Amino acid sequence: MTAKEIIDIYISFFEKRGHKRIPNAPLVPENDPTTLFTSSGMQPLVPYLLGETHPAGTRLVDVQNCFRAVDIDEVGDNRHTTFFRMLGNWSLGDYFKKEQLPWIWELLTKDLGFDAKKLYVTVFKGGNSVDKDEESVLIWKDLLTKAGLNPEERIFYYRAEKNWWSRSGTPDKMPAGEPGGPDSEIFYDFGAELKLHENSQFKNQECHVNCDCGRFIEICNSVFMQYRKQGDGSLALLPRPNVDFGGGLERLLLALENQPDVFKTSLLHPIIKSLEKQTETPYKGNETNMRIVVDHLIAASFIILTGIKPSNKEQGYILRRLIRRSLDHLYSLKETQISPILESIITQYKETDPKLEENFEEIKNTLLEEEQKYANTRKEAKKYIEKKYKGKTVGDELMGEKEISADDAFILYSTHGLSPTQIKSLGYTFNDQAFAEKMKAHKSLSKTASAGKFKGGLADAQE
Ligand code: ALA
Repeated sequence: MTAKEIIDIYISFFEKRGHKRIPNAPLVPENDPTTLFTSSGMQPLVPYLLGETHPAGTRLVDVQNCFRAVDIDEVGDNRHTTFFRMLGNWSLGDYFKKEQLPWIWELLTKDLGFDAKKLYVTVFKGGNSVDKDEESVLIWKDLLTKAGLNPEERIFYYRAEKNWWSRSGTPDKMPAGEPGGPDSEIFYDFGAELKLHENSQFKNQECHVNCDCGRFIEICNSVFMQYRKQGDGSLALLPRPNVDFGGGLERLLLALENQPDVFKTSLLHPIIKSLEKQTETPYKGNETNMRIVVDHLIAASFIILTGIKPSNKEQGYILRRLIRRSLDHLYSLKETQISPILESIITQYKETDPKLEENFEEIKNTLLEEEQKYANTRKEAKKYIEKKYKGKTVGDELMGEKEISADDAFILYSTHGLSPTQIKSLGYTFNDQAFAEKMKAHKSLSKTASAGKFKGGLADAQE
């Protein structure tokens, strides 16, 4: 099944149940100064979740392109990507748990053809003055029993850290006015036989469905969005309860293909293949570098499509960081061109996102311009250091490294815009501790306009 087929099945399933399809909202939110990017399907719908009337009605379905800057540093493992598509269905004060959970179960096990034995569910255990979600438990018990499964072995309970959803996380972190609620997630099990847990850094802890070892992967989440944070810190019920469902398209594909590595799915593997060819380097043994190159170039392409250009602030800064980071990792494999990789990205995405192909030249030119600017920056940074340290031998140059002062490293960071890793990739070392202290002092000084933005904002994106 392709990504496009999953989308078609999903949309038609909900259209048959009275939902209106709404368009993908822009990746850069139009009227939401609280955040830089659309990072979840619910974001463009916040006013309606809070009670406004939606022109398309109370049952909506969509596919939303999302970007999570907060995940930039997570990319490199087998499942994190910064750009993804979220399949969403919405009840705006219409149906609730007793429709939503059976529908999702039916969609997964019948229409998408998942083997029910590979699925596990989680439910909110209670906490933060909100009771355990007994209603969802009863619904799941019924569905699982009918599927011939033992609910005792299938339903797991977690507190707010895992089974509560809002844009800012657990109830205590929600700002006044923010909607949120308990959720029920579905996990896919790749199976114990792959020994993903035994071979992970979590091997000394007990494995469970929410374990980060990679054996289980969350494929979708039904949020029962019925609370709003109050100024006094309490949670009040919204005028009407809503459903906010999010299914990760790339993750559904990964589970359907029973492929624990998202970069080896039918969507992303052809791009990895083109990178292997381009760098004459195998994926095996170079997974982290290749995953970062591919993920960041995909995200950068979609951000460029919104009209954003690389710059030193807000969305432009994130775009610059993505492009430069992908170049760092590409160059660590081979100093080579990015255009062939971009072509392969477009081939893989054009069926679902034809605008990428239509704007190929624009995306390519923006990437190439930034590549050139980055090359100049690196040259300038080197020139600055060489001039400053002329005649001085500091550090072990025989090892191909030159130690520079933390002050100079900080100048390369603040004036030339290079991250600590990028400074090191130029062959310079410096005192990390002293550098970190400078950075801390600098951060507390610069209370920028972006302070206080939601996750996914600039504040979380520094290396
Ligand atoms: N809004 C929920 C999420 O992003 C569905 O997981």
